[in-house]
Amino acid sequence: MDSITVNNSGIISLQTFKDGFDGILSIAESGKQIPFDVKCTYYIYNLVNHESVVRGKHAHKSLKQAIFCINGSFTLSLDDGESKQEIIMDNHGVGVYLGPELWHTMTNFKNNCILLVLASDWYDESDYIREYGEFLAYIKK
Ligand code: TYD
Repeated sequence: MDSITVNNSGIISLQTFKDGFDGILSIAESGKQIPFDVKCTYYIYNLVNHESVVRGKHAHKSLKQAIFCINGSFTLSLDDGESKQEIIMDNHGVGVYLGPELWHTMTNFKNNCILLVLASDWYDESDYIREYGEFLAYIKK
């Protein structure tokens, strides 16, 4: 994966054990590979209309997340309000830190893509910024 150039983000390399033909085990531990305490875990799968699906399209005010592609691949688009970056998520042992105030969009889901997200808090709709103009105004404050 290319290095991350936008603000409030970064690469998360998991500790990975390769057991030859018996598979690979990747570990995410709070305070170690994951730079926050994990309070919520969710996963996204069964992306039937994988070519037209667009997920994300929001930023968070304070939530911290770590996003992984644990099967298949997708494109993660990041925008900190000043610069943008597209990341091909196809390495199942490497994730991306999604800090607060980072507009993110997920597209181009392929090969039975499964996304795993670790989050620093429970779901709270008031932490979401779902309008791009509102996001730009929010980060200028
Ligand atoms: P959202 O975070 O917008 O998903 P994505 O960024 O992948 O597109 O969440 C999608 C919907 O699920 C939204 O209506 C909120 C709801 N939701 C919950 O009810 N609880 C949760 O913990 C999460 C993460 C989402």
